[in-house]
Amino acid sequence: MSESPLITSREKLDLVRADFPVLATQVHGQQIAYLDNAATSQKPQVVIDRISSYYQHENANVHRGVHTLSQIATDTYEDSRKRIAEFIGAGSSREVVFTRGTTDSINLVAACLGVQGIGAGDEILISEMEHHSNIVPWQLLCERSGAKLRVIPVSESGELEYDEFERMLSERTKLVALVHVSNSLGTINPVRRIVSDAHVIGVPVLLDGAQAAPHMRVDVSDLDVDFYCLSSHKLFGPTGFGVLYGKAALLEALPPYQGGGDMIDEVDFAGTTFNEIPHKFEAGTPNIAAAIGFATALDYLEELGYDWIAEQEADLLAYSTSRLKEIEGIRIVGEAENKASVVSFLLGNTHPYDVGTVLDRLGIAVRTGHHCTQPLMKRYGIPGTVRASFAFYNTREEIDRLVSGLFKAEKMFA
Ligand code: ALA
Repeated sequence: MSESPLITSREKLDLVRADFPVLATQVHGQQIAYLDNAATSQKPQVVIDRISSYYQHENANVHRGVHTLSQIATDTYEDSRKRIAEFIGAGSSREVVFTRGTTDSINLVAACLGVQGIGAGDEILISEMEHHSNIVPWQLLCERSGAKLRVIPVSESGELEYDEFERMLSERTKLVALVHVSNSLGTINPVRRIVSDAHVIGVPVLLDGAQAAPHMRVDVSDLDVDFYCLSSHKLFGPTGFGVLYGKAALLEALPPYQGGGDMIDEVDFAGTTFNEIPHKFEAGTPNIAAAIGFATALDYLEELGYDWIAEQEADLLAYSTSRLKEIEGIRIVGEAENKASVVSFLLGNTHPYDVGTVLDRLGIAVRTGHHCTQPLMKRYGIPGTVRASFAFYNTREEIDRLVSGLFKAEKMFA
C-alpha cells in the first residue's frame, strides 16, 4: 500500500484490498466476499513475497551452521523474534517462545504445568466461552493430576458472569485461563481487570489471544499478563506458526516441553541439560520461513495502524449488526457491549450449514457450525451458528451481499 496525504478513506480501503491477492478470487463465478477471518485471515503480498524470497535466497537451518547462509538465516530468524517481542510489548525476546500456534502454546503450558506440582484440591479456572483448545488441554491436565476444572458461566448476551468469576477465584486456583476475544461471540473480555483481580491473590493468568491481536493492539507488559498465546495465521501471517509469551521467571521455572534439537544444552547418556529460554521449549528445526513471514505481517499491520483498523472494523460491526436486524427471522448470538467485528447468528430454524451452502453459491465465505466451542453452543441450546467475521479489508458492499444472500436463503427454506 502506498498512500498520498489527500487519499480518502475509501481509496485507502481499495489500496489495502489490492495488497491481498486472494480477495480477487472468483468463487462460483463471483468475486469472493471473504467473511471468515476468525478462521484464518488472508495474507498481503509482502508476506507472500518475503516467504518466497527467504526460500529463494536465504534458506538454511538455524542455530546449527558456521557457514554464512546458516548465519544469515539464524540472524533473520532471531531478528523476527525481536520484532514479534517488540510488537506484543514483551520485555525481552527471551519471553517469546515460537510454537505451531495458539493451540500448541496452550498445550505447552498445560503439559509443563502438569509436571509442576498441580494436584488434587487445586483448581484451573476457565469460562463457558472457551475454544476447545482452551478446554481440552486443561481437562487432560486435570485428569492426570486430580485437579478440578471450574467454569465461569456466560450471560445471555455473551458476557462473563464477573461476580461468578470473583466467587470462584480462590487460593485453590492455580491458573486462570481465559479467551481474550471470543471466536464465536466476538465478546471482548475485561482482561485487564481479570489479570489484576487474579494477581491480588497471586494467581497467574493465561490469555488465549488468537482472536484479539487481529483487531486490537495487545501489549502484554501493560496487561501484566503471565502467559499470552497467539497464532500468526489469524494475524495475516503464515499458518502453522504462533507464539507463547510468558514472563521470564515463569518460563524459567517450567520444565522443557518436547525433547530434541534446539532445546538441549548438552546431551549425555548419563543425563541432559537444557538450553535457556525460549529455546528450552523449541525442539527440532523450526518453521523459519513462518517466523520471518509473521514478522513481515506485523510490519504491515504497524504501517496500516491499529487506529485505522479499529475505525474500519467498528463500522463493519455496526453496519452488519444493523443490516442483519432487517431480517425478521434473524437471531444474533452474542451481543456483548464490548465486541470485536464478529457476528454469529441463526436464520429462523434453518440449519447453519444450509445457510452457509446457499451463501457459498453466491461467493460469500462464512463459517458455520459450533466453531470449536461446543459447550458454548450447548449453553445457548443451539447446534451452531452462521458466523461472519470481518477484517479491516472487508467492505459494506460485502455485507450488503451477505444480507441479500440471507434474504434469498430465507425464501428458499421458508
Ligand atoms: N478457531 C478458528 C475459528 O474460530 C478456527 O474459526
